[in-house]
Amino acid sequence: MKYPKDLIDKVNKSSAGFKLEGINEGAGPKNPALMIVGEAPGREEIESHIPFHGASGKELMKSLASIGLKRSDVYITSAVRSRPYNIRKVFSKKENKEVTKYPNRKPTQKEVLAHAPFLDYEISYAKPKIIVTVGTTALMRLLGKKYAISDWHGKAIKDTPILQLNQNEDGYVWSKEKYTVIPMYHPAAVFYNRKLTETIKSDWLNIKDYLN
Ligand code: URA
Repeated sequence: MKYPKDLIDKVNKSSAGFKLEGINEGAGPKNPALMIVGEAPGREEIESHIPFHGASGKELMKSLASIGLKRSDVYITSAVRSRPYNIRKVFSKKENKEVTKYPNRKPTQKEVLAHAPFLDYEISYAKPKIIVTVGTTALMRLLGKKYAISDWHGKAIKDTPILQLNQNEDGYVWSKEKYTVIPMYHPAAVFYNRKLTETIKSDWLNIKDYLN
């Protein structure tokens, strides 16, 4: 997907001063089998320009394959389309001096709001019927604080409006269109909590029931 220049200008303007690197556009067909909304790209995605191309992406592709889908069947994007980073000064033993590192981090709510025009645009372009949010950032971006991931992972929230940027561009309003939203744990969750592996597997199998 190529974002229109005016959209990029708008997002860049509202992101001024935030520690965000590059733009990794979302990708996928119109009327996808489903749309996956993640959190934000990391370094791998900024370099490759392919959403979910790093370690989380490998997990996500395994989950898709488990329900008979491949990358080209789905639209993949996230709440923020630039890489949020921190600045850390650390001592490098290898170089025997202090070096500056720029590790990935979670986006802030202000960054999610600044990037809302991208996700709104992609949803109106792709017109997904089913939106799979992976991780809390994506779930909150689309449904606010109504649904806790611990209660709703792997369950479909049917016929629901979603949040989109309001006219003043300082908050959200509910959409007129309705969607099926299925919250999932972020694929990277298994790197920190191996116990979630089986849960995530069975959550993905539930999605199969909603595909036509
Ligand atoms: N996490 C996301 O949410 N999106 C990516 O593209 C990569 C990791």
